[in-house]
Amino acid sequence: MRIARTINEVREALARRPAGFVPTMGFLHEGHLSLVDEARNAGAEFVVVSIFVNPRQFGPSEDFERYPRDEEHDIAMLEQRNVDLLFLPPVDAMYPPGAVTAVSLCGVARPLEGGRRPGHFDGVATVVLKLFNIVQPDLAVFGRKDAQQCAVIDRMVRDLDVPVRLVFADTVREHDGLAMSSRNAYLSAEERKRAPALYRALKGGVEAVTHGIHDVAGVERLMRKLIEETPGVDVDYLALVDPLTFEAPADFERTLIVAGAVRVGRTRLIDNIRIER
Ligand code: PAJ
Repeated sequence: MRIARTINEVREALARRPAGFVPTMGFLHEGHLSLVDEARNAGAEFVVVSIFVNPRQFGPSEDFERYPRDEEHDIAMLEQRNVDLLFLPPVDAMYPPGAVTAVSLCGVARPLEGGRRPGHFDGVATVVLKLFNIVQPDLAVFGRKDAQQCAVIDRMVRDLDVPVRLVFADTVREHDGLAMSSRNAYLSAEERKRAPALYRALKGGVEAVTHGIHDVAGVERLMRKLIEETPGVDVDYLALVDPLTFEAPADFERTLIVAGAVRVGRTRLIDNIRIER
């Protein structure tokens, strides 16, 4: 595996074979690695992974400084998965002084995560577009674990005519249902036991919808009740939404998403389940 730390090194290393790209913020786990496999399955002959903890997508009171990092371990995991190129830029390579251009979204970037984390999706979209322009992949893989992020990137790619094929991969979970996440490393042993409550509540929401409860507020109330069975898990939001707008669905016959965010101690966890139709 080659490692590039400058934009020029990436451009030199790019093969003329179909390239697949997996952007990440590192502290890799099996969820990230599943995206590498998805890239190969989707036809990528050359797989590029980036690790960049993007300061622009963190709010001023968020966890940018303490976000978990382990470059050596990440490199070993990617070597093992036969990744062809790792892009590991320092912050000043991505954001040299003087920049005045950024991506700004409304619509799907506004509800749920967008409301709780102002500017977050603008920061995500800006870095992803920059990474697309640096790597110029044929296809890029994102995890449905961050379902609203998938919808935001999908919208940006269409709105700005970005020549890339997007592939969305299913969420990889621990045995008790907790979605894998770099932030799970923040959880104490006690908090880790409480964390699967989010997935259980979302599953309850899915069951209600598939059993014919077509009442947005009713499903959301039910999920909240399920969470309340586990003390020490505080709801940020629990919502039944349309997968394109992330607003309340107008039509229960189409694909829906139940999405939630909770706090367990100081750690904020998000998860969602698609109800495919
Ligand atoms: P990060 O949280 O590191 O996630 C990188 C990619 O891995 C995202 O597409 C995310 O949805 C996916 N992923 C995370 N946990 C997963 C799981 N349990 N199963 C499947 N996929 C999972 O998302 C970001 O970084 C950043 O916002 C980024 C897109 C890199 C822009 O900075």
